[in-house]
Amino acid sequence: MIKARFSFGEYELLAFQVLPGTYETFNFLLSHNGQAILIDAGEAHPIFQTLENENLQLTNVLITHGHGDHSGGCRAIQDRLGVQSTSPGVESREFPILGTVCRSFATPGHLAVCKSYYFPILGICFTGDTIIGGGCGRLMDGTPECYFQSLEKIKLLPDETIVFGGHDYLEANMKFSLSVDPDNAAMQARLERYKTDPKSAIFVTLEEEKKTNPFLQVDSREAFAELRRRKDIF
Ligand SMILES: [Fe+2]
Repeated sequence: MIKARFSFGEYELLAFQVLPGTYETFNFLLSHNGQAILIDAGEAHPIFQTLENENLQLTNVLITHGHGDHSGGCRAIQDRLGVQSTSPGVESREFPILGTVCRSFATPGHLAVCKSYYFPILGICFTGDTIIGGGCGRLMDGTPECYFQSLEKIKLLPDETIVFGGHDYLEANMKFSLSVDPDNAAMQARLERYKTDPKSAIFVTLEEEKKTNPFLQVDSREAFAELRRRKDIF
């Protein structure tokens, strides 16, 4: 079970896993001056506990997509804390939140409705299951075309942006990456680092993600679809 802390200036980010024994999905609590926002809410109980332990007041919940391991706790959070979850229904929107700025943008493909949340001042992006450290989510009700375009959109963010995806599948993802590109030293280094310092291998800069994630290296929707098919049976 991974629980990892990061600091971005006066902001603190806690990455923690919910639903142990199932998908061990990451939910994220970003906090500043005693207030916090949640990115994804798969299970309410550990979220209530974390808020209490950290003495934080929850102000907003942003949801990347509707799968239960990312949104199943929303109702309980609303009932107990009165905080409604949101997943902006527009292509792209920039809004103030927690004393900083967030840009939400549509990244369909894993599902037809998926959002990513980019915080330009903090230099971090939450991608849900669109990019999962070293790989990507399955094509469930999106198309290869829209998934490919979504990844292209994320690739336009600054290279130094740290990418926070929704699961720890790093080991399996790097093994697949190395099956595609066996001599890739960056992939080997990321897999090696995972053994001693998992959090620094799971959550990396977009620059490292581009070097180690084969789904960010394809140049067409056809190549994306073929790679995804290979991964599905790997
Ligand atoms: Fe999902």
